[in-house]
Amino acid sequence: MIKNDLFLRALKGETVERPPVWMMRQAGRYLPEFMALKKKYDFFTRCRTPELASEITVQPIDIIGPDAAILFSDILVIPQAMNIEVEMKDGIGPWLPNPIRSLKDVEQVVVPDVHEELGYVMNAIKLTKERLDNRVPLIGFAGSPWTILCYAVQGQGSKNFDKAKELCFSAPEAAHQLLQKITDTTIAYLKAKVAAGVNAVQVFDSWGGMLSPVDYQEFSWKYIQQIVDALKDETEVIVFGKGCWFALHDMAKSGAAALGVDWTCSARNARYLTGGNITLQGNFDPSRLLSPPAEIKKMVKQMIDEFGKDNYIANLGHGILPNIPVENAQAFVDAVKEYRM
Ligand code: CP3
Repeated sequence: MIKNDLFLRALKGETVERPPVWMMRQAGRYLPEFMALKKKYDFFTRCRTPELASEITVQPIDIIGPDAAILFSDILVIPQAMNIEVEMKDGIGPWLPNPIRSLKDVEQVVVPDVHEELGYVMNAIKLTKERLDNRVPLIGFAGSPWTILCYAVQGQGSKNFDKAKELCFSAPEAAHQLLQKITDTTIAYLKAKVAAGVNAVQVFDSWGGMLSPVDYQEFSWKYIQQIVDALKDETEVIVFGKGCWFALHDMAKSGAAALGVDWTCSARNARYLTGGNITLQGNFDPSRLLSPPAEIKKMVKQMIDEFGKDNYIANLGHGILPNIPVENAQAFVDAVKEYRM
């Protein structure tokens, strides 16, 4: 039994004494303890070594005290396992030396045995569960097929992912074949994560907002829906689409337990678009954690009042930034924990 199950109860839509709180990217560069390990081990070594991945996962739980842990890993371990080379370059971020640009390239991409290629993730989950000792639930995650395609085709981060969109619109057959391969891998991967012990999963569609509402349906949502369909009877699924407020109405009917909202969508608009009842997660502007702690606390209270204490998980609207003082992240988490109606 998990001692603090507030997060799981909110996902199920149960009445809670206060909303649960966690922060996207809560294991990250704003923590000196994280930086100490980053100095010693390169990024994918940290992902691939269960002792390191579990230690990094538990750091924010020990230091800041959110109500859920999220496994330290990356969405890009999926393309790596699919025979697409991925590096993490300091100052640049993800770097894929051989991007996918044609149907011929897509044919080289494999749907792997996830236990063989990604067994290190399952081992990290098992070790993390031991280290958490049932204090809080553990979240597993994957990127959406569209967001993975963005990196696989662009080859690196981008302001507009123009090459990814070019493949979709000039060679849609190749794009769909790639998206389906990523979807099949992701479903097997998330099922293995659930079997290894995660208590919920989140799908990150970080670049969904690059697409028009019509293209979003065709190139992103269709595949996320397959993932939700395949997982929803085994675990609670959270879908976070950055810049995807326009899709909230369809997302609310998908079988997902909760939907992430970024900071550009008001609580009121998100509630309206989703019909009022589904659990929503978000949406503090990550840059607002640069405000003084007293102001953060005031704004968090306002945010919870606007979303309502039930059917709600307090979070940021995207990942925490590296330049956030630890005490400000602490103020965010404390403000939620101190919330009273
Ligand atoms: O939330 C957590 O604490 C769990 C860990 C986590 C990481 N990446 C660790 C990480 C999660 C959930 C991710 C997901 C991820 N990775 C996404 C989706 C979420 C989002 O932020 O939109 C995306 C788009 C990626 C791809 C990726 N990996 C990027 C763009 C970067 C940043 C590059 C940079 O230098 O800023 C990474 C690297 C990465 N993944 C870091 C961390 C803590 C920072 C680099 C490092 O630790 O060396």
